[in-house]
Amino acid sequence: KEIKVFCPATIANVSCGFDVLGLALESVGDEMLVRKKETPGIKITKIEGQDLPLETNKNVAGVAGLALLNASNYKGGFEIEIFKNIKPGSGIGSSAASSAGAVWAMNELIDKQFSKLELVQFAMQGEKLASNVAHADNVAPAIFGGFTLVRSYEPLDIVPVNTPNQLYATVIHPQIEIKTSDSRKILKTNISLEKGIKQWGNLGGLIAGLFTEDYELISRSLEDHIIEPVRSILIPGFDAVKASAISAGALGCGISGSGPSIFALSKGQETAQIVAQTMSKVYEEIGLDFDVHVSKIC
Ligand code: HSE
Repeated sequence: KEIKVFCPATIANVSCGFDVLGLALESVGDEMLVRKKETPGIKITKIEGQDLPLETNKNVAGVAGLALLNASNYKGGFEIEIFKNIKPGSGIGSSAASSAGAVWAMNELIDKQFSKLELVQFAMQGEKLASNVAHADNVAPAIFGGFTLVRSYEPLDIVPVNTPNQLYATVIHPQIEIKTSDSRKILKTNISLEKGIKQWGNLGGLIAGLFTEDYELISRSLEDHIIEPVRSILIPGFDAVKASAISAGALGCGISGSGPSIFALSKGQETAQIVAQTMSKVYEEIGLDFDVHVSKIC
């Protein structure tokens, strides 16, 4: 018995929701084949597309899978083949795609013993291996789909958020690698009350805008007063790319996860395409290599 799954790329934070908000992309992601086997444990037999460790304990899919296996009454094991399209360190949830994909596929093969919330908890162990922090803002949307809010970590409480039909994401990835652990180290651990007020106002506004499908409200709320000013210095041409996205009609633009990818949200696929071209022009002018994608949110 085996299953092939699509493991979506995800945009975490979405400007104002550091560590609590994320969304899943419909057309960017990895694939993974998971097979049941009689011998207990997890064996990663193939990884294509990226140079990543095959050892179960060093691979996020292996670690997330072991968390599931340990919690389950299934006595056998699994074999995994991973086909990576998402580059590690690109900011669109490479480790989350592998962690979430593995536990999702395994759960299908053992007759859905676990809930989505439990799958998020297992997948978070993969995130912990990748970045030292078991953040859920990439794995939750990868498992639940669409936008998700991590309302609380202890206890874990995931709230699926409505995704307006006309919302499209543009993601541009300048070809540099930023490790999540490194881009977390530069963050301050305290924030001022003044900044907190702005940030939770925007987060509430964004969630309300998503549920009421109010694109203007979504647009007004896509601001980050806390993380972006610190992290954007690591991303070449960030201010110019952001300005170009807004001038091309994007609702908002910010750092995807811990970067260096930059995302923009737009109303309608056509606008998202124009935004992609305009953002690309900035990197073409600087002479920096990049990948760019336009995707629906799924
Ligand atoms: N919320 C995490 C961070 C996401 O920004 O560090 C990492 O993908």
